[in-house]
Amino acid sequence: MKIGNSIMALMVALPFVVSAPNVMAATAEGVVLDSVHIDSGDTPSLQRGAALFVNYCLSCHGAAYMRYERLAYDLDIPMETLAEDFMFTTDKPGDLMKTAMTEDDAKEWFGVAPPDLTLVSRVRNNEWLYTYLRAFYLDENSPNGWNNSLFENVAMPHVLYELQGAQTLVGHVETDEGAAVETSAHQNIVGDTIFEIQKVGKNSPEEFDMAMRDLVNFLSYLAEPAQLQRRSIGIWVLAWLAVLFVVSFLLKKEYWRDIH
Ligand code: HEC
Repeated sequence: MKIGNSIMALMVALPFVVSAPNVMAATAEGVVLDSVHIDSGDTPSLQRGAALFVNYCLSCHGAAYMRYERLAYDLDIPMETLAEDFMFTTDKPGDLMKTAMTEDDAKEWFGVAPPDLTLVSRVRNNEWLYTYLRAFYLDENSPNGWNNSLFENVAMPHVLYELQGAQTLVGHVETDEGAAVETSAHQNIVGDTIFEIQKVGKNSPEEFDMAMRDLVNFLSYLAEPAQLQRRSIGIWVLAWLAVLFVVSFLLKKEYWRDIH
């Protein structure tokens, strides 16, 4: 009886225990994250995200659990395009996506080694990444001239500067009072932080947000490539169940015909 009770208690408590870390992540530091639409079935978005990743991130960060040829296969990238646009000249399709930078050099240049990004969308989460990538701002007190409102004193410079342009920190939206904040055309709100746009980049703010959505979509795929297969297997499973349903229904009718 006692054991039975404890098992019951455990079964009731388990979903809360398992989901607790997520809830904490969203509220622990009181940070406000922007939501992002992730769609593993949107191949063009994943391709654009992969191109951004290779061009702007791979010089410092690796994705060392992913091979180039798997990327090409999953994202419908032709082999020639893969070799020309996605790989370092010395890489082979079967190679892992490692960064060219050694850990010692990285530590010397940045103080910390840029972490491998294969699983970052699981370690952080997609909303965190989407907010982080849009929250760099000019800060003359920081060693590399940049800071980030979500990751205070981050050692990473704003590598997407030419796309986004440059912004400075203005303050935070006063969510407590519930007052809607008036923003002008040259202001940008990320999470609950207001930025003043100082220099326009190649992208408009909307285009930059779309590009970051593609990049986060790609990072989410990277952390769980099997989600693509699961999706297509899922469709076949449902189709199979539908066929099975029709067959069983006809069979049932056949069996019961004489009885009725
Ligand atoms: C010039 C080198 C450099 C480039 C290029 C670069 N990063 Fe970074 N990144 C860093 C460093 C260094 C850190 C560690 C920051 C720290 O811990 O203070 C970092 C940290 C991060 C983190 C936080 C990881 C964590 O969980 O703490 C993310 C996410 C990230 N980078 C994403 C990106 C993406 C996406 C790109 C490409 C758009 C990119 N980085 C390009 C140097 C770089």
